[in-house]
Amino acid sequence: MSDKFVKVTTPEGVTAELPVKEGVIGPPTFDVKTLHKQTGYFTYDSGFAATGACESGITFIDGEKGILQYRGYPIEQLAENSNFIEVAYLLMNGELPNKAEFKSFDEEITRHTMVHEKIRSLMKGFQYDAHPMAMMMSVIGSFAAFYHEGMSVDDAKDRRLAAIRLIAKMPTVAAAVYKNYIGQPFMYPRNDLNFTERLLHMMYGVPAEPYEVNPVAAKALDLLFILHADHEQNASTSTVRLVGSTGANPFACISAGIASLWGPAHGGANEAVLNMLGEIGDVSNIEKYVAKAKDKNDPFRLMGFGHRVYKNYDPRATIIRKACHEVLDDLGIDDPQLELAMKLEEIALKDEYFVQRKLYPNVDFYSGIIYKALGMPTQMFTVMFAIARTVGWVSQWLEQYETADTRIGRPRQLYTGPVTRDFVNIDKR
Ligand code: CMC
Repeated sequence: MSDKFVKVTTPEGVTAELPVKEGVIGPPTFDVKTLHKQTGYFTYDSGFAATGACESGITFIDGEKGILQYRGYPIEQLAENSNFIEVAYLLMNGELPNKAEFKSFDEEITRHTMVHEKIRSLMKGFQYDAHPMAMMMSVIGSFAAFYHEGMSVDDAKDRRLAAIRLIAKMPTVAAAVYKNYIGQPFMYPRNDLNFTERLLHMMYGVPAEPYEVNPVAAKALDLLFILHADHEQNASTSTVRLVGSTGANPFACISAGIASLWGPAHGGANEAVLNMLGEIGDVSNIEKYVAKAKDKNDPFRLMGFGHRVYKNYDPRATIIRKACHEVLDDLGIDDPQLELAMKLEEIALKDEYFVQRKLYPNVDFYSGIIYKALGMPTQMFTVMFAIARTVGWVSQWLEQYETADTRIGRPRQLYTGPVTRDFVNIDKR
């Protein structure tokens, strides 16, 4: 804590001194916790545009410069040199693992990949065409019923075990959700495979014949998972923290995170981008859709464009855009939607509306084209995002318990309803 203060004076002339809190990098904050006590005022910030809700040492973003770092490591370096399990270790533990630490962490995750057999009966209750995100949310939430008794959120060992279970079981559930969706038998995890290979095997393998994992697909998924692993205090992570602040069961917290991720303004954008590209259909229609996106009377937005924090190219989009070309080339796929997406980007980036508002492609703009190339239906895209983001969610949830300043999250409001009035009996209304 620095010894600087910000002075605030209300229209009534009441002055408050609010301590300035500075992080190691990034803009400073001033701590408004005592504002109400000192002045009788609350702050109002409906979309949390200028509000820091916690201290965190996990992920750093500089939105103006287009910088993203996990525990200080630039995302570009991690994407180039690391792998998802190593990144998971880094996010959870704060440091990159040495060889022995990596091996034991990987083995630990691998040992927890199976899910309780009763989960299968639970899944059979869903309609075959239930949205995969709806199934994910419910199944992960239902884990709270399997892991509640004997699990204490106040015990660091129990918390860590819950985090490991979540990272390990998400792909198994995701694959089961996919199998339910397409009506094939569920596959058990194969522990001789690595994290993304195992997922591909559970999704695309069938009991009737051997399945050979395509290394290009496994590597592409690994890259996407690294890029989606954490992103500071976004909507779903803040949801996990808010639910977590009440002391709730960790599986319930992550289920809430999945619910938040599903929305098209957040992780659901990857599915929405492909639907949008399908609707645009052809390069000749781009101008019409760009005009729709600019029209304030039209709810249409360019999905995969814009970001609350990035006022520059999303660094993850730069990496995914390049990977898109490589993966499609390696798989021998010629997808006209990639050309359409690139043309759309080119036109939008030259348009005064997008330039003025600093709207650039975000992480979701190109990721769907890769998922599609790997044979996934659009409804599964956000499920893939959820597998990766689970690492961020559990890391932030663990950190929350280790931060002294953690209290129950309880925002206030600006009341706009009726003032006090007397009850009128129903026959007199
Ligand atoms: N298309 C057209 N106009 C847009 C778009 C867009 N995609 N995004 C923002 N704008 C306009 C918006 O209408 C507003 O204009 P004006 O100042 O004239 O009112 C201005 O840009 C600022 O937008 P905002 O809605 O106030 O910005 P926000 O920070 O509240 O919203 C966002 C950020 C990501 C929700 C929004 O840009 C959006 O809806 N984008 C499309 C959905 C999307 O791609 N989401 C994925 C985000 S990244 C991955 C993730 O979070 O999981």
